[in-house]
Amino acid sequence: MTQNDQFTALLLEQDEEEKVGASLQSLDNDRLPEGDVTVAIKYSTLNYKDGMIVNGIGRLVRDYPHVPGIDFCGVVEQSSSPDYKAGDEVILTGWRVGEIHWGGFATRARVKSEWLVPLPKGISLRQSMSIGTAGFTAMLAVMALEDHGLSPDNPGEVLVTGAAGGVGSVAVSILSNLGYRVAAATGREETHGYLTDLGASTLVDRAELAETPRGPMSKERWSGIIDNVGGDSLGNILGSLAYWGSCAAVGNAGGIKFSSTVIPFLLRGINLLGIDSNTCPFERRRKAWERLSKELPMDKLDSLTSEIGLTEVIDNANSILKGNVRGRLVIDVSR
Ligand SMILES: NC(=O)c1ccc[n+]([C@@H]2O[C@H](COP(=O)([O-])OP(=O)(O)OC[C@H]3O[C@@H](n4cnc5c(N)ncnc54)[C@H](OP(=O)(O)O)[C@@H]3O)[C@@H](O)[C@H]2O)c1
Repeated sequence: MTQNDQFTALLLEQDEEEKVGASLQSLDNDRLPEGDVTVAIKYSTLNYKDGMIVNGIGRLVRDYPHVPGIDFCGVVEQSSSPDYKAGDEVILTGWRVGEIHWGGFATRARVKSEWLVPLPKGISLRQSMSIGTAGFTAMLAVMALEDHGLSPDNPGEVLVTGAAGGVGSVAVSILSNLGYRVAAATGREETHGYLTDLGASTLVDRAELAETPRGPMSKERWSGIIDNVGGDSLGNILGSLAYWGSCAAVGNAGGIKFSSTVIPFLLRGINLLGIDSNTCPFERRRKAWERLSKELPMDKLDSLTSEIGLTEVIDNANSILKGNVRGRLVIDVSR
């Protein structure tokens, strides 16, 4: 058996008491799942959802042993698809890879060609994973808000909650680069300088958004919202959206339940827009990546990115669940 017949993966296994454990292992290629494209993975990333999966939380994984990692990029090794050939540089996010399919915390993956996107011109493989699922989702949220009328000419600021996290950091950078005035809501005062450097014009204390407003509508404050937090604060901020403004509901870092009234929907025409990066159709996916390659300032992307190796994933998977990770964590799978 040669080195090329095997690959390295962070393997999750479940014991008899259904406790999930993770370890780095060498696996034979014949353990790769079915698919028409085999990819030599170069980089993956650590997202909030990866933190949950590595820690066996949320029943996101049904079958063990499992290789986590909801996104990756790399170079095609073998392909029986007419869309890809050996040597092509590709990105994969979503399609529940890393959840119900084996994912990117490995040096090799075999996947369906329709899940892949070609690396857009102008960015490197590493930069594509600095962006990763989080950045891709941030762009989908911006596109959804724009489709519903958001423009830099609208009065008011765009609010980004969970701003110092992965989705939030990229959202702040894109919006400010596009000329929007951005209010960044964070629970971590120590990230204020970082968020200002990314382009936030106002900093909002997360605790302020947790306070229940007096009535169903407050003063118009936000021209749009990208919400990464969910929970009570989502219900609270909807009443401060400006007339015809929209909120893109992206995340649940603060909880899954929220309560609101229909009043701002009926009297201000607001919209609540769901974002699902997993099943985003191919053409919109490609458009989002194209826009990311042009509209996300790469110096800001570099400043919000840290790099770890596969061996450091387990520690960092705990940190991300505690809200202690700032910006984006790229994983170099070769170390
Ligand atoms: N819909 C989709 O397709 C999609 C795609 C990607 C991610 N997501 C979801 O979007 C959210 C953000 O993802 P991410 O990768 O950016 O995660 P992340 O890097 O962990 O960022 C989440 C941020 O939320 C804030 N936060 C954490 N715990 C909180 C709490 N208890 N109450 C209020 N705020 C809290 C923190 O921001 P501050 O420190 O700034 O307060 C934290 O940095 C997650 O819920 C994730 O599952 C959804």
